[in-house]
Amino acid sequence: MTSNKRPDTMERITTPQQAEAFIEEQLKELREQIGDKKVLLALSGGVDSSVVAALLIKAVGKQLTCVHVNHGLLRKGEPEQVIKVFGEELGANLIYVDAVDRFLDKLAGVDDPETKRHIIGEEFIKVFAEEAAKLDGIKFLGQGTIYPDILESEAGIKAHHNVGGLPEELDFELVEPVKLLYKDEVRVVGKALGLPDSMVYRQPFPGPGLGVRCTGAITRDRLEAVRESDAILREEFEKAGLQGKVWQYFTVVPDYKSTGITDGKRTYAWPVVIRAINTTDVVEVTVEHLDPALIDRLVQRITTEVKGVNRVLFDYTPKPPATVEWE
Ligand code: XMP
Repeated sequence: MTSNKRPDTMERITTPQQAEAFIEEQLKELREQIGDKKVLLALSGGVDSSVVAALLIKAVGKQLTCVHVNHGLLRKGEPEQVIKVFGEELGANLIYVDAVDRFLDKLAGVDDPETKRHIIGEEFIKVFAEEAAKLDGIKFLGQGTIYPDILESEAGIKAHHNVGGLPEELDFELVEPVKLLYKDEVRVVGKALGLPDSMVYRQPFPGPGLGVRCTGAITRDRLEAVRESDAILREEFEKAGLQGKVWQYFTVVPDYKSTGITDGKRTYAWPVVIRAINTTDVVEVTVEHLDPALIDRLVQRITTEVKGVNRVLFDYTPKPPATVEWE
């Protein structure tokens, strides 16, 4: 698949049969393109890179090496899921890089949001390039580019990047098997490839991860409060049947404290902010109004189970004027 233009005749993939046909066609093309050469892929665990990994494993097996960089800003259970699904179940050649200390040490004391984002992006490329340099004979780089990425980059809305912009010295040819698909089609293909629902229907997750939800200078304890409260929120939304219905939901832990009381003793601790939103284009966003019983349960669980937290707030602001993320 060399052209970046989706043919007008291409049907929208909505059924398992259409997904199977797409998969068969891609396996043939991937084998032709790659031959007996080696491919490298940055596997974040997001839908797009996961689908590309599953396709490449089917097409060329061990000629693919996946690199999963844990930068310490992933959601609870995500690195473990990547290892389980790709390393154990699909038998991929998987390199797991524990770069948690490296990222968090670099970010220590940095409170400017843009600088934080910059450090995370730059460090990611460095870690990935270091791993690539350890491998011999890689000719191709797999990328989870999807059609909206191409359209947005052509329209000048955002730079077309998937691994955060590749270093020039990594002289690879690109392999982009889902580049003509829309997100909903990638999910149908992922389902047909047998990936778990929690991966296929995963919410959008910013590249800088939980780092933009731990506002100001990131500390390990407050980052843990973001991760734990996010896990509780996801669990309760799933139990309430809201998974897949509400477009995106997450928690933020700002870097200020307020007074509270626990077991008759004064506390001075962080608030957890809950954000749950709906949108079609992410340009305009509305807020999901939650069932009061669900709100009560969330407040109860978060204030008792998350260390260092004594208050729960709800962000009921649409976009505009607020953005989705806090940083
Ligand atoms: P904002 O905060 O700009 O977010 O209203 C709109 C959507 O984009 C996601 N987002 C990102 N996604 N890399 C990404 O891949 C990023 O750096 C990034 N920042 C925000 C955000 O989660 C929301 O869905």
